[in-house]
Amino acid sequence: MVDWPHKEAMVMDNYVTGAAIKSLREAKRLTQEELAERIHVSAKAVSKWETGKGFPDISLLEPLAKALDVSVIELLSGEDIRNRNRAFNMLKSVFYVCPACGNVICATGEAVISCCGIVLPPLTHEPTDESHQIRMEFVEDEIYVSMDHPMTKVHYVSFFAAVSDQGVQMVKLYPEGSAEARFKRSRVGSLWACCNRHGLFRLTPPRTGNLPPMRNGKECAK
Ligand SMILES: [Fe+2]
Repeated sequence: MVDWPHKEAMVMDNYVTGAAIKSLREAKRLTQEELAERIHVSAKAVSKWETGKGFPDISLLEPLAKALDVSVIELLSGEDIRNRNRAFNMLKSVFYVCPACGNVICATGEAVISCCGIVLPPLTHEPTDESHQIRMEFVEDEIYVSMDHPMTKVHYVSFFAAVSDQGVQMVKLYPEGSAEARFKRSRVGSLWACCNRHGLFRLTPPRTGNLPPMRNGKECAK
């Protein structure tokens, strides 16, 4: 595993930097000559890259990354993605929704997600308002989730999700259907609802007990 000793020197815009190559090469205890030999270029070429007097050709990125024991993405980003996401936390799962086709993608860490040619931003949840209150009820070993919300073709709840430390349960919803879903109750740490017009809403359910119907964490009538 490569140590990243000079991360601050490895910030880049769009392409691999000389600082990143130099830092990774030194971390691997390779000379410029040794690195050059591994990727079949001259030591002078490596020296030029490291001093900012040139860039490796795009066809060299893959062999260069391999020689430096990192992925191409890590080489380009200048960050140790492998270490950062190794102990990912399911409870920090992130949702992406394609505005063109409605595709819903869930990731357990930072990612560059694109769909229909659009790079999707991660959704952040909105403050709950009167029109988007998630109602939940414990029914035996399940959580029944619903929302009083239009389900028309132009304005509807597109999915419900229940996130635990073990995984994500998701129910996709469709216009003209019901804004309701059932999830296995075990270890659920957060409930999510996505409105196609107003964004993502979140509810944290109470952890224990045989609880009455809840609306945003407070007892309510059915
Ligand atoms: Fe809405």
